Amino acid sequence: MAQALVLLASFLIFSNVAHCDFSPRVIVDLAKILMDNYCSPEKLAGMEEAIDTGSSNTDILSISDPATLASVLTDGVKKTIFDSRVKVTYEPGYVPPAPPAMPDFPPEQLAEMIKGTVKVEVLDGNIGYLKIQHIVGEEIAQKVGPILLEYIWDKVLPTSAMILDFRSAVTGELSGIPYIVSYFTDSEPRIHIDSVYHRTSDVTTELWSMPTLLGKRYGTSKPLIVLTSKNTLGIAEDVVYCLKNLKRATIVGENTAGGSIKINKIKVGDTDFYVTVPVAKSINPITGKSWEINGVAPNVEVAAEDALDTAIAIIKLRAEIPGLVQAAAALVADNYAFPSIGDDVVEKLGAVVASGEYNQISTKKELEAKLSADLLKLSGDKCLKATSNIPARPPMNLTPEMFIELIKVSFHTDVFENNIGYLRFDMFGDFEHVAKIIAEHVWDKVVDTDMLIIDLRNNVGGSTSSIAGFCSYFFDDDKQIVLDHVYNRPSNTTSDLLTLTQLTGRRYGSKKSVIILTSGATAGAAEEFVFIMKRLGRAMIIGETTHGGCHPPETFRVGESDIYLSIPISHSDIAQGPSWEGAGIAPYIPVPADAALDTAKAILNKHFSGQK
Ligand SMILES: *[C@@H]1O[C@H](CO)[C@@H](O)[C@H](O)[C@H]1NC(C)=O
Repeated sequence: MAQALVLLASFLIFSNVAHCDFSPRVIVDLAKILMDNYCSPEKLAGMEEAIDTGSSNTDILSISDPATLASVLTDGVKKTIFDSRVKVTYEPGYVPPAPPAMPDFPPEQLAEMIKGTVKVEVLDGNIGYLKIQHIVGEEIAQKVGPILLEYIWDKVLPTSAMILDFRSAVTGELSGIPYIVSYFTDSEPRIHIDSVYHRTSDVTTELWSMPTLLGKRYGTSKPLIVLTSKNTLGIAEDVVYCLKNLKRATIVGENTAGGSIKINKIKVGDTDFYVTVPVAKSINPITGKSWEINGVAPNVEVAAEDALDTAIAIIKLRAEIPGLVQAAAALVADNYAFPSIGDDVVEKLGAVVASGEYNQISTKKELEAKLSADLLKLSGDKCLKATSNIPARPPMNLTPEMFIELIKVSFHTDVFENNIGYLRFDMFGDFEHVAKIIAEHVWDKVVDTDMLIIDLRNNVGGSTSSIAGFCSYFFDDDKQIVLDHVYNRPSNTTSDLLTLTQLTGRRYGSKKSVIILTSGATAGAAEEFVFIMKRLGRAMIIGETTHGGCHPPETFRVGESDIYLSIPISHSDIAQGPSWEGAGIAPYIPVPADAALDTAKAILNKHFSGQK
């Protein structure tokens, strides 16, 4: 405060005034009002000093225009306590509003008045809509309770979801908070809604949900959306903050105003200056914090005028969620590569939905994220997840020359000293129909080497259709070898993956040394190749443990929605223990991926000199 008053003083040096228009008592009284009433006394340290400085500094009071002085004082206070709610105003003729009294109107007339201030509707889809501008206090609620019940509450009670429109809720009474909250909670256990610290009495009162209410509760299971705007203020903000943190309501709209649970306008001495000051503060028992000053951030932020449409969309989505999750579960049960895990996932997913964990979801994106997280948690398989449905790219119209170029850049070959071949490619594909081009432009360059390094460190997988063919080049044509047993869930069959008897181009054969380089990125079809070559003892693996992916998953549409699941439908032979899926394949010689090639060369060179 002292600092702020110094600021004020320096400002006033430049204002050309000769005499004092206002008594120095204005400063003293203003400071005292804040000292005695402001809700957060800890922010007022130094106020005593400020009073002394202020009252002895007559320059501050030399502004001749009272409205200007009021705004200068407002700025000074704001700079000291950083609270934009405190305002000094100059209002000659201000008449403080009388405390709200319940006029003794006949019930019919009261009903008309209430119908005029509260808008109630049942929207399409059996959605209750209640627009509230003023939150009535306990006294009025008691008196007009039966009318509120008959004209408002009974209309929306049987709906299957509710929208509370607080976008223009700007007034209310503290004692009304437990009423509103209680209609959306259970009677037991009672809920500690808020603690309110009253500065003047230095007393903290607790607001609790009410065990008995007039009429029926809306309860806790039906969706509740509260609409907010940047004008939603005070008591309404307290209700919003409470329902949000209880996770009972989803807040849709704009960040609220950041008002006060109780704000008074206090006359400064016998002047026409008034200071508006928060005299109480709210401390939410869940967060230990308050919505005051900063307002309540919505769960779903949209412009106030779009909030109703957004709320309706959220309610529609929520109604579909149990069916969608069930449909997703059915897809997992029918298609997931590991049937017993799939059955377990389905059972547990049902329990997760029943526990209400999906009740607060507001967007399709959140649903996908939650579904993916649950599928991962329940299956332990990172390949089983929600996915966006990327439409298959239309086949490219390539000329034969362009096609050859594409193959050439996709495969890297080299021949190092001692006739060591090197072959690198980063993706498996449907190589069958391009076997001739690969044989001529790639394979022929390395097939006559004495040893071969296959570099799969950057190979992220792809189609497994060419695995058997590719493996076959490293075995002889005199007998067929079983490479893997692959179980396919949709058909519930296991098929043998065998070496091919007919190949395009020449074989590398089963005698020459082969080293495969791996990294943590080596995934999917590449892992299947490494798995086979390692298990059959046909290659030495050097590098890092592979990614631990899966056989190429398939994309399934969940019901009629535009949510898609990526589900692995096949797995490798697990008769002799777990295969590579999920866990990856450990190398024979573990070295960091970027050292793997040098290590491989060194081993093969040593092998070569040993042979001489
Ligand atoms: C899969 O086939 C086996 C027999 O090969 C049968 O025992 C099993 O019940 C089938 N599983 C499903 C889910 O159809």
